[in-house]
Amino acid sequence: MIFTVAIDGPAAAGKGTIARALAARFGLAHLDTGLLYRAVGAKGGDPVAAAQGLAAQDLARDDLRSLEAGQAASRVAVIPEVRAALTAFQRRFARAEGGAVLDGRDIGTVICPEAEVKLFVTASPEVRAHRRWLEVGGDEARVLDEVIERDRRDMERATAPLKPAPDAVVLDTSVMTIEEAVAAAMEVVAARIGA
Ligand code: CDP
Repeated sequence: MIFTVAIDGPAAAGKGTIARALAARFGLAHLDTGLLYRAVGAKGGDPVAAAQGLAAQDLARDDLRSLEAGQAASRVAVIPEVRAALTAFQRRFARAEGGAVLDGRDIGTVICPEAEVKLFVTASPEVRAHRRWLEVGGDEARVLDEVIERDRRDMERATAPLKPAPDAVVLDTSVMTIEEAVAAAMEVVAARIGA
């Protein structure tokens, strides 16, 4: 079976939680594509060389979830050669036998436009910043600034900007609990998969 679920959306919208839940429920492989960009940003040096030489151990660093790593990721993510270096791996993963869920910014638009299910998961900046702050702590106003700055960079870049695919189901989770958001996503996938 080849079956791809593409989950895109802005920072801290709950994509990762939804992707992991769908993968577990439907027996699909999961790729957090943000981790690839975080690892390239964290490596330092020439980002294009870092992306071309990305190895499994680069993804195992324990500092990739920080706000700084998020900012570094969105800066390297505007470079077309960085994106190109990461494309083939993501496409192979998306169309591998057994099915896959990928979450990121351009999965339904660029990496896998043929995905059987496309979700665009979003929420207000304040709600998303609050959720991220619960994970990382510190100053909540700074977390909100960081989320807004990163979203702007992701939406305004020329290559593979963040936007919903025309055929994506938009899930605004501003007034949903994460359990409700997961349940809504499961319904969309179950309807398509015939489960
Ligand atoms: O977890 P969060 O939503 O905050 O971020 P992430 O998914 O780990 O992505 C970090 C950064 O990587 C984003 O702000 C984007 O700039 C970039 N990214 C991208 O350009 N394309 C993707 N498919 C995934 C992430």
